[in-house]
This record gives sequence, C-alpha cells and structure tokens, in this order.
Amino acid sequence: MTRTIMEAYRQSAQVSLKQACGLPFAVYHDPAVYEAEVEQVFLNDWIFACAADRLAIAGDYFAMDIAGEPLILIKGQDGELRALSNSCRHRGTPLLEQGFGRLSKNIVCPYHAWTFDDKGSFRGAPLTGDVVIEKDEHCLARFAVASWNGLIFVNLSDSPLPFAEKIAGVDDYLSLFELQRFQYSYQMPVEHWQCNWKLAVENGIESYHLFKVHKQTLETTTPSKQAYYVAGNAEWALTGGTIKDKRNSVTKWLSGYYPEICHHYLLLFLPPSFIAVITCDGLNWIQILPQGPEQCRLVPGGLLEQKVSDYRSPEFQFVEAFLAEDRNICERVQGGMRSRKSQGGKLVSMEKILVDFRQYLSSRLFQTVPDGFVETERAAVFLKL
Ligand code: FES
Ligand SMILES: [Fe+2]
Repeated sequence: MTRTIMEAYRQSAQVSLKQACGLPFAVYHDPAVYEAEVEQVFLNDWIFACAADRLAIAGDYFAMDIAGEPLILIKGQDGELRALSNSCRHRGTPLLEQGFGRLSKNIVCPYHAWTFDDKGSFRGAPLTGDVVIEKDEHCLARFAVASWNGLIFVNLSDSPLPFAEKIAGVDDYLSLFELQRFQYSYQMPVEHWQCNWKLAVENGIESYHLFKVHKQTLETTTPSKQAYYVAGNAEWALTGGTIKDKRNSVTKWLSGYYPEICHHYLLLFLPPSFIAVITCDGLNWIQILPQGPEQCRLVPGGLLEQKVSDYRSPEFQFVEAFLAEDRNICERVQGGMRSRKSQGGKLVSMEKILVDFRQYLSSRLFQTVPDGFVETERAAVFLKL
C-alpha cells in the first residue's frame, strides 16, 4: 500500500504548473511517507532554529527538536556557535530542557550526571567502578550550523550541502529592505496544529486563499489579487505583493524618504518549512516543524528595528487573528485528506509556489532534477539597479 502511495507521490510531485494537481491525499497522513520525509528532508537539510540575537552571550543556548531529534544550539565560552545533540551519551536522556537558557559551564545530565563541555566533549562520569569510558567515543554529536541575516539554521546531515549554496542568489532581492536594521527578535507562543506539516507549509506560502479565509485580516492589507510571483525554483522561492493599507508608518524610514519598496512585501520560502514575510518594517517568520503524520508545531516570530514591549498590541492581535484562521482551515483540510473517493484538482497560476515546493520534495525524496530558475518582471521592484 505504502509503495503505491510513494509512487503516486513521486508522479504528482515532479510536474510543471500546467499539469499540477493536488498531491495524493494519503501523503498527508501515511506514517511511512511521514518517516521518509523526516529522514530525507528534515534530518537532511537546513532547518531554521532561532534568531541570532537570542544566542549573543557565551553560555546562551536554545534546546529544541527537529521531528523528535533533540539538539542544542549553544554559544560557547570561546565565542563559537555550535549545534550539538541534546541526547546524553550514557542512556539517551535529553540533557537540557527545551527552550532558551544560559549555561554557566558544563552540561550535566540530570540522570547519572555524565558531564559534557559546551563543545560537546565528554568530561567525566561519576561512580564508574573499574569501567573505562573512552572520552573520544562518548562526545555529543555535532551538527552544521549557519547564520544568515540574524537567523540561525542547523543541518543534521552527515554531509550537509553548504548553506551558502542553498540560498545562493536570494540576497540580491532583499538588499533594498536593509535587513541589518532588524536587530531585535520576538517570538510568539508556539502553536500545535492538528494537520500534516505540508498542509501548514502550503497554506503559509500561497496567497490564493487570502481573499476567502482572511477576509477581515490579511486581505485588507495584502489582497490575493495583488500578489505575484517574483523568482525562485525548488531550493528557494520568492513571491510578493502590494501592501494596501499599511498599519505601521514607515514614512520615517531613511529620514522621510519613502521608497517604492515600502509598498511591497516579499514572501521568502526556504524549504522545507521556513516562511518569512519581509517588509520595510521587519522580517516576520513562521517556522513549521513536523510532530507526527497529522500534527505539526508552528513557531511564529520575527526581527524588528525595536524591542517588542507589548505582545497585546494591535499588530500582534492581527497576527493571532490570521493564524487562528489559518489553523482552522488547515485542520479542516486535514479532515478531508481521509477521503478515498476524491482526489486533488488542478492548481491555479497563483499557486506556482506550490509547484516549487513539490519539486523540492521530489528532489529530496525521489532524487529528481527540478525545473530551472524562474524570474518574473516583478523582480525589478526588488532588485537594486
Ligand atoms: S542517561 Fe545521562 S548520565 Fe545516564
Ligand atoms: Fe493564510
């Protein structure tokens, strides 16, 4: 059965926009498909972890998991940022509690107190009797880490593709936004959605649904009809749109100069699951992580010019409101994925970015070669000439 599902997945994932239809519904709940995606996508590519400003001081750490694989990002006493396994080399206890914290010196396991330094090296174990524990063979696994525009990504692969290669070309489209202005991160409460991670991603990247699902929220500021494709392929994609009613004033930006770029937003998709919306006011993201065939975790956050002091402000209420709308529709769609008698229909032009996502999945799961890079005339708005 799973073999048939994988074959149907393969056939529907590697298609151009003209023939593209919805993926077979079973790929949104089949446990074997889920395992393949975790293994070949999430444990094998660059995954967003947190904002760099959260790990600024020696000892700062962030413990998280990627599809159940526990890891720690830590700023060492030597100033280096590292990604380490958060699984104790004795019997696998997660070492540090999930979340942000600051370590004064070593990592000590809460079970039998095996100790590791902030580079992951084994430092010692108490009461070992006459058993010799080889230090070099009991270090924490170390993973690749990359920092880009104030964002930290981690890659659990043994032979990761260089991060610079993954994002090659993206910066050209972002330079007018002057992202270095955005120094302060914020993070909203983590959400647990009852849907497959791909549904949340697809919903997060396409602008087709805004006019229907977000009538009172996103459609009033960034309408579906004014959204467009900018550039991309399977490795990254950019869409954009005009901002109808700006809630934040940006007229002060660049001492009163109000550039054309302020009327537009860019949506950056770095597959598998990092989605950022960039405007003159900030870079706001949604990170989606799988938590089972029909569950995912959604982490909304962003980088702004100023520290966030009030999470009850109208801006945050707006985000909460449209995320509630998204959650509602995604969980509803998940219910529909159990149908055996129905199947997905054609994708429309506005869903071109979903084709990029499918081609990405297909390249990782089935080793297919994605279509080439596409750039539309809209790119001119964002490119510094
Ligand atoms: S499991 Fe960590 S010290 Fe035993
Ligand atoms: Fe939405």
